[in-house]
Amino acid sequence: PPEPAAADLVDNNQKPVGYGRMLRKEDPRFIRGLGRYVDDVQLPGMLHMAILRSPVAHARIVNVDTTAAEALPKVKAVITGETLKGLGLDWMPTLSGDVQAVLATDKVRFQGQEVAAVVAEDRYTARDALELIDIDYDILDPVHDVRKALEPSAPVIRDDLDGKTDNHIFDWETGDKAATDAVFAEADVVVTQDMVYPRVHPAPMETCGAVADFDRVDGKLTLWSTSQAPHAHRTLYAIVAGIPEHKIRVISPDIGGGFGNKVPIYPGYVCAVVGSIVTGKPVKWMEDRTENLTSTGFARDYVMRGEIAATRDGRILAIRSNVLADHGAFNGVAAPVKYPAGFFGVFTGSYQLEAAHCSMTAVYTNKAPGGVAYACSFRITEAVYFVERLVNCLAAELGMDQIALRRKNFIQPDQFPYTTKTGWVYDSGDYDAAMTEAMRIADYDGLLAEQAAKRDRGELMGIGVAFFTEAVGAGPRKDMDILGLGMADGCDVRVHPTGKAVVRLSVQSQGQGHETTYAQIVAEELGIAPDDIDVVHGDTDNTPFGLGTYGSRSTPVSGAAAAMAARKIRDKAKLIASGMLEVSVADLEWQKGSFGVKGDPGTSVTIAEIAMAAHGAGDLPPGVEGGLDASVVYNPANLTYPFGAYICVVDIDPDTAVVKVRRFVAVDDCGTRINPMIIEGQVHGGLTDGVGMALMEVIEFDESGNCLNGSLMDYLIPTALEVPHWETGYTVTPSPHHPIGAKGVGESATVGSPPAVVNAVIDALAPYGIRHADMPLTPSRVWEAMQGRARPP
Ligand code: CDP
Repeated sequence: PPEPAAADLVDNNQKPVGYGRMLRKEDPRFIRGLGRYVDDVQLPGMLHMAILRSPVAHARIVNVDTTAAEALPKVKAVITGETLKGLGLDWMPTLSGDVQAVLATDKVRFQGQEVAAVVAEDRYTARDALELIDIDYDILDPVHDVRKALEPSAPVIRDDLDGKTDNHIFDWETGDKAATDAVFAEADVVVTQDMVYPRVHPAPMETCGAVADFDRVDGKLTLWSTSQAPHAHRTLYAIVAGIPEHKIRVISPDIGGGFGNKVPIYPGYVCAVVGSIVTGKPVKWMEDRTENLTSTGFARDYVMRGEIAATRDGRILAIRSNVLADHGAFNGVAAPVKYPAGFFGVFTGSYQLEAAHCSMTAVYTNKAPGGVAYACSFRITEAVYFVERLVNCLAAELGMDQIALRRKNFIQPDQFPYTTKTGWVYDSGDYDAAMTEAMRIADYDGLLAEQAAKRDRGELMGIGVAFFTEAVGAGPRKDMDILGLGMADGCDVRVHPTGKAVVRLSVQSQGQGHETTYAQIVAEELGIAPDDIDVVHGDTDNTPFGLGTYGSRSTPVSGAAAAMAARKIRDKAKLIASGMLEVSVADLEWQKGSFGVKGDPGTSVTIAEIAMAAHGAGDLPPGVEGGLDASVVYNPANLTYPFGAYICVVDIDPDTAVVKVRRFVAVDDCGTRINPMIIEGQVHGGLTDGVGMALMEVIEFDESGNCLNGSLMDYLIPTALEVPHWETGYTVTPSPHHPIGAKGVGESATVGSPPAVVNAVIDALAPYGIRHADMPLTPSRVWEAMQGRARPP
C-alpha cells in the first residue's frame, strides 16, 4: 500500500483538527452494545403489532374472517384491507409514482404480501392471533420469470390499474440509436453477450420496524422508524394520511445498516400508525428475518444483452444494451423521477466511445416490489457489471490483456469534464494513475507469470480486473427529484458561546460514521476540535429538510452543505473579530481556529473568543446580529464521479468447482479523503458485499412463485471465512465543483467488485473455453459451466 499521507497519521489522542484517521465518535456506544435502535424504544402502555402475509404468490381474496383473532384475550385490534379502505389508506404511493397495496383487498400479488395486522398487548399474542385469521384465497397462476411476463398468455398482475391488460410498466432509452447502429455496422469486431444480474437483497443486520405514537390530545404523530430518509418519509405520510407535517415527527435512531433497503415506505410502518390511531396507544412493529428477505425492497433483477463494437487492434467504438427489468408486483424502484432506470445510463463506463445506446423494458411479476439502490447510486452496480463484463468478453475475443484493453480506451485526464454519449458529465478523473497503482500493489506481471506456471500444471487460477466510474451525490435540483421533492440537502451549524458546536444534518447515518466525518469537515473549516462538535441527524423536529442517505450522496451533498455552513460562520466570525481587534476586515487573516492581524503575529482572537463575543454583552460591528449560526441548503452543481481499479485473484478447485477469492486489490479515488480509516471500512464492507453477490447471494422463486431464500440459511451472505485480507490503495483526484473536493465512497466497492470477481472466475475457466457464466458463481453453477468441456491438460 502507498505510504500514508501526513494527514492520515493524526489520531484522537492528538485531538486532530480536520481530516485524518480519527477513531469514530459513535463507536464507544456501538462496541459496548449501547446503540439505541428502533426495537430499543419502550413507551408506557406500548402495544405490539404483527403482520399476516400471503402464503401464495397470486390469488384473489374471497373472504377474510377475523372473528376468532379478535376474540383472543389481549388482542386490541385487527386491521384488514377493508379497515384501511374506510380510512382511504388501503393503497399508498410508491417512490416511482406507482401505487402499492398497504393491506391487500382484492388480490395478493406476491408471496409475503401484507394482508392483515394484529395489535396486541405483547408480540407473542399478536403472532398467535395471526393464525386465527381465516382467509379464503382463489389461487391464480403466477408469473415470476421476467422473460415470460409479457407473453399474451401471462396472467395480468395489476388489474387494479385502470385499463391494464398486460404486465408492461415502462420503456426507456438513452443514447443515440441511429449513430450507434451505424458504428456497429462498420466495426471490425462485434461481441454480443447475454447476462443476468440476479435478484439480491440488501439484507441489513437490523430488519425494518417502527414504533408509532399518535397523541390524541395534540394530534401529533411521533414515528420512530428504520428510515434512511426521515424527512422524505414525513412528507409522504403528510400527503397520504392528511396529517400536516408539523404534526408529524419522524425519528430514525441508530440504524443497523440500510443499503437501500430502508428507503421505501413499507406497509408495516403505515399499519403501525393506524394501529396507534385506532388503539390510542403506542404500537411497535418489528419484522423478522424472513419478512425482511421476502417482502422488502429487493435489488437488481436485470436481464441484459450487451453488444460491444471495436477495431481489431482494441479501440472500443460503441456499446449497445438491451435490458428487461423485473420490478416485482408494484413498481417500488427508488430513483429520481427523470431516470426510471436510475443511473444505468453510465453503462458506457470509463471509456471514450463514439456512440452508445440503451433500451429497457420494465415489467411486473409476482415478486416482492423494490428495485432499491442497494449500495449503489440507482442501478450503477448493474451498469458497471454490464460494461466490465462486456469489456472482458471483448478482450477474450481479441486475445488482448484485460488491463491493456482498458488502458487503451480510458478517458484521459485532460478530457474532464467529460460528457458521455448518454449525457452524463464526469467531473474529474485520472484513471490510468489508479490502474497503475492497482497493478503495482498486485504485482500484476508477477500474477500473470504465476498463472502461466499454474496453468501448465492444470491448476485453475484466475485474475479479474474491473475499472468503474460511479455517479454519486444525487443531485442537481434541475435534473433530479423524487416524487417532486428536489434533491438538495440542508445543514445547520450553531457555535455555542463557549466555542463548542452542533451540526444538524438532513442525511441519516446507518453506520457510515457521519457523527465523526461531519464533525471533521466542520472542524477543518472552523478550527474547532471534532470532539467539541456534536452531529445531530435522524430527527425531523431537530434537523433541516433533505432527502436522506442512499446512493453515496451524503458527502457529495450534505458534506458540501456542512462545509458551506461552516464557511458562512467563518465569514461572520471575521466581521466580529474585526470589531474585537479594532482593525479592518481586510487586515485579518485566518489561521485555522483564529483570526490574526496580518503582520502582527501576537494579535489574534480564537473562534471560541469570537463565539463568546457573538453571544456577549458588548457591541457588535454595525449590521452584525448576535449569535454564531448558519444554515445552508446545498444544491449540487453536478454529481461527483468517484472511480476505482480492482484486481481480484481466485483459485478454483477443478474437482469441486469451489471458488476461493485469494487476493483482492482495490484502489479507490473518492477525491479529498475526509477520514481514511472510515473510507477503508466502507471499502472493506463493499468488497465483502461484492464477493457475496458474485459467489453466493440470490433470491430465487419456484414455479409457484414461492421465494426460496427466506432465511439466512438459504440466502447466503459472506463471512470473514469467504473473503481475503483486503489490499487497498488510493489516488486523490478532487471533485472540481465540491467545496472540499470530496466525492462519495460508501458504495464504490459494492459497485466495482462483482465484475472483478466474475472476471477472475471466467479467466480461471478460460482453459475450458468458457466466456461467461451468470452470478452467483456457486460451486454448482461453476461445475455446470465446466461440464462437457475439455479439461485443461
Ligand atoms: O451517503 P453515505 O454516507 O452512505 O456515503 P458517503 O457520502 O460516500 O460516505 C460514507 C462515509 O465515508 C461517510 O462517513 C463519509 O464522510 C466518509 N467519506 C470520507 O471520509 N471521505 C470521502 N471523500 C467520502 C466519504
